[in-house]
Amino acid sequence: MTKANYPVNRFKDIQTPFYYYDLEVLRATLQEINAQASKSNFHVHYAMKANVNASVLQEIKNAGLGADCVSGGEIEAAITAGVSPTKVVFAGVGKADWEINMALDNNIFCFNVESIPELEIIDELALAKGKVANVALRINPNVSANTHHYITTGLSENKFGINMSELDKVIDLFPSLSNVKLIGLHFHIGSQITDMTSFQDLCVRVNEIQELFTSKNVTLDHINVGGGLGINYEHPNHFPIPDFEAYFKIFRDHLVLQPQQTLHFELGRAVVAQCGSLISKVLYIKEGTSKKFAILDAGFTELIRPALYQAYHRIENLTSELPAENYDVVGPICESSDTFAKDFSLNKTKRGDIIALRSAGAYGEIMASQYNLRQLPKAYTSDELL
Ligand code: LLP
Repeated sequence: MTKANYPVNRFKDIQTPFYYYDLEVLRATLQEINAQASKSNFHVHYAMKANVNASVLQEIKNAGLGADCVSGGEIEAAITAGVSPTKVVFAGVGKADWEINMALDNNIFCFNVESIPELEIIDELALAKGKVANVALRINPNVSANTHHYITTGLSENKFGINMSELDKVIDLFPSLSNVKLIGLHFHIGSQITDMTSFQDLCVRVNEIQELFTSKNVTLDHINVGGGLGINYEHPNHFPIPDFEAYFKIFRDHLVLQPQQTLHFELGRAVVAQCGSLISKVLYIKEGTSKKFAILDAGFTELIRPALYQAYHRIENLTSELPAENYDVVGPICESSDTFAKDFSLNKTKRGDIIALRSAGAYGEIMASQYNLRQLPKAYTSDELL
């Protein structure tokens, strides 16, 4: 998708800021995921936390992906969207009792269990309902993801998963728990991972951990390696679809699966990031002492990633083809961190121009807030604005 693909004339009638989803990009991405995953019967559960926009979810459900949920709200949203509970996995370090009960009532496929106390509570709540819950142990593999420290999850210092030193203890506990069934292992080392050797390191670690289970005669049918595949934020026009072929090949080449085992993934960002843009209008151009500010009507309330993770989002002026100038592109929120980019080269910009903040389909709309009593952003799809 390039500047020319945006229905800018339609944008002019819509109150900014808003999210715009190009469903053609999403459909092409889903098609590529299915083409590559089906080569090895890999199962992909979409990480709902990235975006739960109803139109986006509908496409994902139609493509046949399952859902990776981290809250009762996400389980409800997945099931409402029509995802079969048999394709729903449920992770999270702090599952509340009502969320566990809701997952049990819906007979979800699997709980990704993150601690021994959680395992005991799932067993207790399942017993009360006369059910047996499928569980996978989320193991903290202590593998570096080489990504921003806020979105690194697989190091022993992180709060996620069961440490490898506790594995013997957990395995020994299972015979005493009558209402949980161990069906697999779960891993997730972080997000926006672009260095494929991190996934290779994960495979090596999973192979080692599998040996421990085999030596204890524990059979597992499912291995879930989480999500984390990064996208190209710098060049969304050139790389609208992540390299799923190379990503899945890493696991095909380096992970040793037993004949009965199915491999699962939980991709979020790689599915939806490139189809979404935050569309905003320029309110003012302000001349600072040494720089120019382009002040937008969107701020970190609509897209928090730059403020929270120093994340880069490509910014385009959809209504100017004039020679480029440098701007600090900022929002209206009363905080200095409300800055999308500094010294950013944009086609010469004036009040009223329409700006696209690219690659915002993942962790954009869903992380919006009402700080400063702002309204949550609306969203439109390419189908609606044809
Ligand atoms: N599975 C688990 C257990 C996770 O914790 C996550 C993301 C995923 C799957 C999906 O990861 P993905 O494929 O999207 O990388 N708000 C941050 C990202 C937080 C990711 C949290 N966990 C951001 O805007 O960069």
